[in-house]
Amino acid sequence: MMIFKIPVKASSAAALAICMMMGATPAISMNNQVHSIQTLPRILVLATGGTISGKKNGMSEIGYNAGGVTGKQLVEDIPELAKLAEINVEQIANIGSQDMNDAIWLRLAKRIQDAVAHNEADGIVITHGTDTMEETAFFLDTVIRTDKPIILTGAMRPSTAIGADGPANLYEAIEVAANPKAKDHGVMIVMNDTIHAARWASKTHTTAVETFQSINAGPIGYVDPASVRFIEPKKQPVPSYGLPTTAPLPAVEILYAHSGMGASIINDLIKTGVKGIILAGVGDGNSSKEAMAALNLAVKQGVIVVRSSRTGSGFVNRNVEVNDDKNDFVVSYDLSPQKARILLQILIANGKNKLSDIQAAFEAGF
Ligand code: SIN
Repeated sequence: MMIFKIPVKASSAAALAICMMMGATPAISMNNQVHSIQTLPRILVLATGGTISGKKNGMSEIGYNAGGVTGKQLVEDIPELAKLAEINVEQIANIGSQDMNDAIWLRLAKRIQDAVAHNEADGIVITHGTDTMEETAFFLDTVIRTDKPIILTGAMRPSTAIGADGPANLYEAIEVAANPKAKDHGVMIVMNDTIHAARWASKTHTTAVETFQSINAGPIGYVDPASVRFIEPKKQPVPSYGLPTTAPLPAVEILYAHSGMGASIINDLIKTGVKGIILAGVGDGNSSKEAMAALNLAVKQGVIVVRSSRTGSGFVNRNVEVNDDKNDFVVSYDLSPQKARILLQILIANGKNKLSDIQAAFEAGF
């Protein structure tokens, strides 16, 4: 926040000149005197629903309606925000994030691109359900290139619950988005006093407020009501792919491997005309001999197969337990199955079908 106090005796012209030098917008009173100048960062809040907007009848009830409260109400319920930023709120959707879909992603991404192109805001905050928050964050991070902070936040407890975490998370998300230090860090998730990069963030617990963790990496920063600290350097630029113009995105499915996995589920999937298969493999992205043979057949029929892991952390490397060169498989390295799916969808939508290009894209994030 920039507040400039102009000496009372300064002439209007001198005060205006000081304002211009400081890059601030002058406020001029009716009697043509410049009495004080205040420039707050402009934050655009895009609300999509989720538990942060959830409402329930009793404070101790477990069930609730996702999306019972609007984004405007969420912001109005935190009067302290008026000191942090000049806030505009738009409602993009009002759903539980289990129902997030490609059409809403495109709407959200286009609105952000537009706001960036017309310099409508200094930072953008998206309120979102936590269940698929990491997917939306990763999608936006892959298709939007801007130095402006884009931050997703949400809540594990509905807005009417005892100890609701939504207000603190929203306050801190806006605090980070309004902070010049947050520029050039790509898309982030701010939850529970912690700042995560979209590439690494993952929901790891069904109910705990500290559910988001940055797998394989750790958080990039911390926030409290008085300070914003980044402990990781700014993000290396990664290739940004064109925003697909129409939904749905190309069909890519995730297959969860397990002991005794057979071939039939893979053969059935090929028949649906799927463009890609992400194997959420056991251990290092592996599966049974039968499943591997069926995946090899899928590749021969033009389906792109990416091996990732169901373990939740670690890297899937090429040609360790599985001969990827021989099978023409791609590996996801650090990307979880759900993020590998999004990257492959975006690559296919951008006309990237060469396996070496696809493999390079998976490697480009770190
Ligand atoms: C949702 O993802 O919409 C429900 C769960 C949550 O927001 O925590």
